[in-house]
Amino acid sequence: MTYESILVEQHDAVTLITINRPQALNALNSQVLAELIAAFAAFEADPSQGCAVLTGAGDKAFAAGADIKEMADKPASDFFNEDFFAGWTSHLVKSTRKPWIAAVNGFALGGGCELAMMADFIIAADTARFGQPEIKLGVAPGMGGSQRLTRAVGKAKAMDMCLTGRMMDAAEAERSGLVSRIVPLAGLIDEALKAAQTIAAMPPMAAKVNKEMVNVAFETTLDQGLLFERRAFQILTATEDKAEGMKAFVEKRPGVWQGK
Ligand code: HXC
Repeated sequence: MTYESILVEQHDAVTLITINRPQALNALNSQVLAELIAAFAAFEADPSQGCAVLTGAGDKAFAAGADIKEMADKPASDFFNEDFFAGWTSHLVKSTRKPWIAAVNGFALGGGCELAMMADFIIAADTARFGQPEIKLGVAPGMGGSQRLTRAVGKAKAMDMCLTGRMMDAAEAERSGLVSRIVPLAGLIDEALKAAQTIAAMPPMAAKVNKEMVNVAFETTLDQGLLFERRAFQILTATEDKAEGMKAFVEKRPGVWQGK
């Protein structure tokens, strides 16, 4: 597929996807959504690819939100009938079993913050700014901001962000648990690609299962989560990669993974 609003590159086993509308601060319109869905599906289907990185073009924004110009005149019945925003979670979260990282290079506002939070984790540039300013437009988060942000940073900060619309800088975001690391903007993509290469070099089934386990923690009780973890762990012990991983450790050499 030829993309117009995103760029897709493969760096060995890592797919780098860049939202490419810097003149609109990478605002998320329906074309970006359609292209991201296609790019994530291609990444998921390609056995040579083990991890993805999503970022925004330019040094100003990851994504400054859903495209306000596209939404301004849209009737409510269209939002409802299209189940507006449902595609993001179903394709980028639920159908993507391989890990992916958001590399946030500037503003991540509204839908941009929500998109970053769909990633398995966020690496932020020191210039990153996060916010849920939808209230100022007379609306509210629509692709996970009230739910994923609250789970990530707790009620106090999530309420503060959603009700005042203020932005969090990178330091506050890291302190609050929203991002895993902060790096200087100039080194952001290198750092994200390096982390992604590390993940892509892991046994692929174990990578998927580790991701799934952590995500289960957000969906279930502790008892059920612990049971899920034990069962998934026990299933992994039946894989060829487990046999190889433990043998390689004993033989003091790197493992060679089959994905089986
Ligand atoms: C469409 C956008 C945009 C957006 C920026 N632009 N954000 N276009 N949708 N979300 C465009 C501007 O119109 C402008 O284009 C260009 O990008 C540069 O933006 P400026 O505002 O000139 O830049 P600056 O002064 O540096 O301010 C940066 C900013 C500001 C603080 C990030 O752009 C801003 O507040 N953007 C909106 C942020 C926001 O409210 N996001 C949430 C959206 S709602 P032109 O052509 O005019 O020069 C959402 C979910 C809503 O995400 C759910 C509702 C159902």
